[in-house]
Parts: sequence; C-alpha cells; structure tokens
Amino acid sequence: MKAVQIKQPGGPEQMVLVDVEVGEPGPGEIRIRHKAVGLNFIDVYHRTGMYPLPLPATIGMEASGIVEAVGEGVTHLKAGDRAAYASQPPGSYCEARVMPAKTVCKLPDSIDFDTGAAMMLKGLTAQYLLKKTQPQDRLKEGDFVLFHAAAGGVGLIACQWARAMGLQLIGTAGSAAKCALAKEYGASHVIDYTKEDFVARVKEITGGRGLKVVYDSVGKDTWDKSLECLMPFGLMASFGASSGPPAPFAPGALGAKGSLYVTRQTLFSHIATRESTQAMADDLFDVVGSGKVKIRIDQRYPLADVQQAHRDLEGRKTTGCTILTL
Ligand SMILES: NC(=O)c1ccc[n+]([C@@H]2O[C@H](COP(=O)([O-])OP(=O)(O)OC[C@H]3O[C@@H](n4cnc5c(N)ncnc54)[C@H](OP(=O)(O)O)[C@@H]3O)[C@@H](O)[C@H]2O)c1
Repeated sequence: MKAVQIKQPGGPEQMVLVDVEVGEPGPGEIRIRHKAVGLNFIDVYHRTGMYPLPLPATIGMEASGIVEAVGEGVTHLKAGDRAAYASQPPGSYCEARVMPAKTVCKLPDSIDFDTGAAMMLKGLTAQYLLKKTQPQDRLKEGDFVLFHAAAGGVGLIACQWARAMGLQLIGTAGSAAKCALAKEYGASHVIDYTKEDFVARVKEITGGRGLKVVYDSVGKDTWDKSLECLMPFGLMASFGASSGPPAPFAPGALGAKGSLYVTRQTLFSHIATRESTQAMADDLFDVVGSGKVKIRIDQRYPLADVQQAHRDLEGRKTTGCTILTL
C-alpha cells in the first residue's frame, strides 16, 4: 500500500512515496480504502513543522473512500459503505488507512468520491465559521462580512454559503481573475488585496460603518488591517496563517479600536464528538445537495505528484479545491 511520508519537516521534497502495511481496525476504528484525497493548507503547516508531528509521519486530513472493515463498537459505519472525512490524526495521503471512526461520515449517494474528498475539511470549516463563529450581536440578513482568500478552497465554499444565508460577503483575493471567480461564486464585493487598500474599500462599501466580522486565514499580512475593518464590538475570527502567523499583539489595542473580540478557531474543536461532526456534516450535505453550494475542484494531481501539488498551493497558483487522485 502506497503512502506519502515525511521523515523530517521541510519543503515539498521531504514528501516521498513509500510502501507501508495497513493493519486491522481496533476498537472505535475503521479501515478505509481511499478513492480520492483532499489537499489543504494545514498539510503545508504539518509538512514544514509549523504544526509539529511525531515523525516519520503521513500527512493529510481529508479523503473519501470505501469502508473495508470496522472495529469493535463502531455502529454508524459498516464494510462496503461509501464514506468521507476531515479528521485527526493526519494520515490521509495514502491508498488505505486505519483511523478513528468518530469523524468519518457516510457519504450521500448523490455526492461522488472526488467531491466528498474535496469538501469535508473545507466545507465543515465554512459551516462552523459562518454558522457558529458569530459576533455578539449575531449576523443578520444583509450584514457584511469580510472573508480573505475568497477564491481558495474554503473561500469559494464560504462565498456561496454566505450568499445562501443572505449575507453580503466581501471577498479578498490575490488577482483580478481570482476576484472574478469569487464574485461568480457569490461574493457581493471583491477586493484585490495585492493592489487595493482593503481597509479603505471596506469603509467605502459599508458606508463607513465597518464590519461585524472578519474571517482571516491569511494571518501575518492581513491581521492589523483586518482589525481596522471592524465596527465597535466586532469579531476578528482568525482561522489560519497562510502568509505566516500574526505578530503578538497587546490586548489594549482591542479596547482602543472599539472593544473588539478576537478568537482563533480550529475545526478540530468543532468536530471533537461523533454527534457534532455528524450534525455539521448533515448541514454541509444538505447545502451541497440543494445546489446552493457547488464544490469546485480546479486541480487534480496523482498521489505521486504531491510535491507539485504543495508547490502550487503555497505558490498561490490554485483556486477552489484540490484533490490527489488514486
Ligand atoms: N482553523 C481551521 O479550522 C481551518 C480549516 C481549514 C482551513 N483553514 C485555513 O484556511 C485557509 C484556506 O485553506 P485552503 O486549504 O482552502 O487554502 P486556499 O485558500 O485554497 O489557499 C491559500 C490561499 O491563501 C492566500 N494567501 C495569501 N497570502 C499567502 C501567502 N503568503 N502564501 C500562500 N497563500 C497565501 C492565497 O490566495 P490569494 O492569492 O487569493 O491571496 C492562497 O491561494 C488556510 O490558511 C488554512 O490554514 C483553517
């Protein structure tokens, strides 16, 4: 069985294809044979060591496939089920694996394996951000939110889901073509943050009022300006660091800018239990099944070309979702 392994943290060249044994599932586990694997920016953090892992490690946190065997105590899945997951621990860059069953969900018949592999981690993230990471005064129809990297994997899902919720999502992206894509997928306004001052544009779009929420996954390059976009009591929802981690900040700055709130969210707190995972997945399956959110897969790479897949993701060359094919 082929798996992508890293023996030490570093660049894409650290990822090599190796042969590994796959055992039998223990209590609470399943063995799944993958049909497709999702690529996510968190895989880069694992590869570089920004999020350290015990080594050697197989990285990857998202995939779809067919359940081959279930361990003792697993009742929501059986051998032969079509399934997909976003999950801890990392290890999805492989043909088959044994893993905890808790966050693995049965895939509805209407959703194909490629879509299942592309949408679980990114779609569940858009779900908890827009539905559960809310300002004190809750988001209401017509409210503006700012979402950085709006043409990316999580971004294009968020654009569509925000539109379905009646929100006006202002999306930032790194080129005119990416901005056009985010607009096509539901952003009410788009800003090329490599060319335009997004604080000034947000003020203009909101008539000077600012925003209740900024969803910021870019981190270092956007942090300070994102805070400038918020209205008093607004919420800075940080959920990633694709440009690097934001610099440490003094809490007093939040008071001076209008008693702001800051949170750093991670999907893995939200999918800590089988029940919460399934409830969020059902919401995702519904919105995808309804056609209100389409999962756009713009890049496909064979598993053996994973190094190139990482180069393209880190090089800002991708849009929408990316999968590794088997
Ligand atoms: N906390 C969580 O629960 C959670 C879950 C999923 C994802 N995330 C985070 O959400 C973000 C999006 O994830 P994704 O997998 O969907 O990736 P993605 O958005 O498809 O790719 C990352 C994008 O970030 C933008 N970016 C801005 N500055 C960058 C830089 N210096 N280097 C590289 N990219 C840069 C690029 O878009 P532009 O060229 O348009 O700027 C790039 O395409 C990532 O930061 C990820 O860590 C967090």
